[in-house]
Amino acid sequence: MTLPKALSRLRLPVIGSPLFIISNPDLVIAQCKAGIVGSFPALNAREKEGEPIELERWLVRITEELDRHNQANPDTPAAPFAVNQIVHRSNARLERDVEICVKHRVPVWITSLGAQEWVNEAAHSVGGITLHDVINNRFAKKAVEKGADGLIAVAAGAGGHAGALSPFALVQEIREWFDGPLALSGAIARGDAILAAQAAGADLAYIGSAFIATEEANAVPGYKQMIVENGASDIVYSDLFTGVWGNYLKPSIAAAGMDPDNLERSDPSAMNFGADRQKPKSWKEIWGSGQGIGAVKEVVPAAQLVDRLEREYRAARDRLFHASGA
Ligand SMILES: Cc1cc2nc3c(=O)[nH]c(=O)nc-3n(C[C@H](O)[C@H](O)[C@H](O)COP(=O)(O)O)c2cc1C
Repeated sequence: MTLPKALSRLRLPVIGSPLFIISNPDLVIAQCKAGIVGSFPALNAREKEGEPIELERWLVRITEELDRHNQANPDTPAAPFAVNQIVHRSNARLERDVEICVKHRVPVWITSLGAQEWVNEAAHSVGGITLHDVINNRFAKKAVEKGADGLIAVAAGAGGHAGALSPFALVQEIREWFDGPLALSGAIARGDAILAAQAAGADLAYIGSAFIATEEANAVPGYKQMIVENGASDIVYSDLFTGVWGNYLKPSIAAAGMDPDNLERSDPSAMNFGADRQKPKSWKEIWGSGQGIGAVKEVVPAAQLVDRLEREYRAARDRLFHASGA
C-alpha cells in the first residue's frame, strides 16, 4: 500500500514523536521546516485561568508559520505536523481538544493509551489521518478495528511508555496482516537505524529522545546534557513513576535519592494522564529517555539533527548498495 500524501513527501521518512512537556511549537515548527513530521501532545498546551485557549494559540501559530514557510519555499515545503491525543479516561480535556483539532484541521493525529472510534472519525471529518501507538500485535488489531489509519509500533528501548518486544518481532507480526502506514519506534537516533526500520518492514521511523537534546526542546539544560552524556546502559525500565512501563535515565533517579537498580513496583490505581497530572515532588526531575541516546553527542538545533540523520541515512544506503554490488 502506498503512504497517504501527508506522509509520502517527507525529506526523510521520520516523525519527530510527541514528548510530554518537551515538545512545543518551536520544536514542531523546526522539525516540519526541516522536512520531517513534527508533533506535540495536546496536553502540553497548558491552560491558564482567564486566558485564551493555549492549544488554539499553538495551532494557529504552527499553521501560520508553516504556511509562510511554504509560500517562501515552494520547492522545499514543510512537512505536515501532528497532534497527540492521550485517549485515557484520566484526560478530561480530550473531547474539547479533539474539537479544537477539528476546527484547525490538524493533518496528522497520533493517539496513545486507548483507541476510540469517535476520535478517528473526528480526524477523518477534516481529511486527517490517524496513527495509533501500540506495544503489541493485539493492541494493533484493536486499533485498526476501531478505525486507525496507521500504527506506531513502540518496541523495546523506546523513551516514555515503551514496549518490551523486539522491533523485529513486533513489525513482523503486524506486517502479517496490516499493509497500511506503519512507523517504528525504539532507540532510533541515527540515520542508519531509520533505514533499518524500513528494511524491517516499517514505513517511517518515530524518533523522540534524540530531539530532547535540541535547542528548541522545552527541557532544562541538565536534562539535555544527561541525554548527551549517557548511553543504553544508563536507562532503566520501570512502572514506578506513572503506573505504565517506561524507560528513564538512571542518573536522574539517583539524583532524586533512589536506587535505579532496585526500584519498587507502582500502584496502578494512581494512574493519571490528565492535564492535572502531577508527580510527587521528589519525582519532578525523573527524566524519560529511550536507549538510543549513545548516538547523541551534543545539543544542536533540530534542523542540524535532521541534517545529521539524513547524511547517515544516505551513507547507510550507499554502503548497502555497494556491499550488495547493486
Ligand atoms: C520524555 C518523554 C516523554 C514522552 N511523552 C509522550 C507523550 O506525551 N505522548 C506519547 O504518545 N508519547 C510520548 N513519549 C513517547 C515518544 O513519543 C516515542 O514513542 C519515543 O520517544 C520513541 O522512542 P525513542 O525515545 O527511543 O526515540 C515520550 C517519550 C519521552 C522520552
